[in-house]
Amino acid sequence: MPETSEKKKVILSAIQPSGTITLGNYLGALRNWVNLQNDYNCIFAVADLHAITVRQDPKQFRQNIYNAYALLLACGIDPEKSPVFIQSHVHTHTELAWILNCFTQFGELSRMTQFKDKSRKYSNNINAGLFTYPTLMAADILLYRADMVPVGADQKQHLELARDIAERFNSIYGNVFKLPEPYISNIGARVMSLQEPTKKMSKSDENVNSWIAVLDKPETIMKKFKRAVTDSEAVVRIGEGKDGINNLIGIMSAVTGKTNDDITAEFEGKGYGDFKTAVAEAVIEELRPIQTKFNEYIANKDYLEEQYRKGAEFALKLSLRTLDKAMNKIGFIAK
Ligand code: TRP
Repeated sequence: MPETSEKKKVILSAIQPSGTITLGNYLGALRNWVNLQNDYNCIFAVADLHAITVRQDPKQFRQNIYNAYALLLACGIDPEKSPVFIQSHVHTHTELAWILNCFTQFGELSRMTQFKDKSRKYSNNINAGLFTYPTLMAADILLYRADMVPVGADQKQHLELARDIAERFNSIYGNVFKLPEPYISNIGARVMSLQEPTKKMSKSDENVNSWIAVLDKPETIMKKFKRAVTDSEAVVRIGEGKDGINNLIGIMSAVTGKTNDDITAEFEGKGYGDFKTAVAEAVIEELRPIQTKFNEYIANKDYLEEQYRKGAEFALKLSLRTLDKAMNKIGFIAK
């Protein structure tokens, strides 16, 4: 069979509309999704239903959903190639999530480390949605018979649970769900906090100087990099006990494509001040076109609407096949 007639594998991923994405999300995940679009059938979603497991301000929430959608496009996801939809627009997700809840054990959900972390963090609102969050995520994935899901370390356990649920369901009813594999990218950079470089960069970090938002203004980016934690050696090189500099070199390399050795050679004899300024400038230039496109998209609600409607139409059609099949197997009467 000629290669071109082979069916491409399906990759599915989603982001929560939580206001902004960090430089870490971009370099570690989103930027790689853009490159997957030619080799795979990619489907992307804004996981707005997941976001209400913590309380949201309605006006801000609506804006965050638009922002997340516009950011995906601004980062280079092409909705003509890869459908991008808003999770709450496709009713099959909540329906399959309910069904999967009935095939998921209390004990399994209790073991999810994210649930444990979030119950500690939001101890006054440990709602059932926070608990069943992983079954909704499993529905997102299984509905599209995704072969692969690009996930970070924090979502790996959820993906494994999705596989377990799918396997359990299939063992009772036959081959309904495809078992998804994690997609591990070998080019994704792991970006650390600028203030505590042994920790991953995260927007939930209270210290705003520890993370860069993709939409941060150039002067903010410069300021944050200038304040980044380093060490006392004053040599730009990868080394033990040099977590801050290692991180800055990693960012510089991810953004410019230069190797660590190139970077060390370039900054030989120069201080950390010069190096931090150079990293900040490189990041500003990397993000500039994204910010420009984001501003264009967010000002064009008609275009966004056209795209998310098309995305939802596509997603509904595809996901209904799986939902109908699952319901039929269970014994529900078809409408
Ligand atoms: N839970 C994921 C996160 O917070 C977002 C998400 C929702 C997702 N549904 C998904 C990721 C399906 C991959 C596949 O990052």
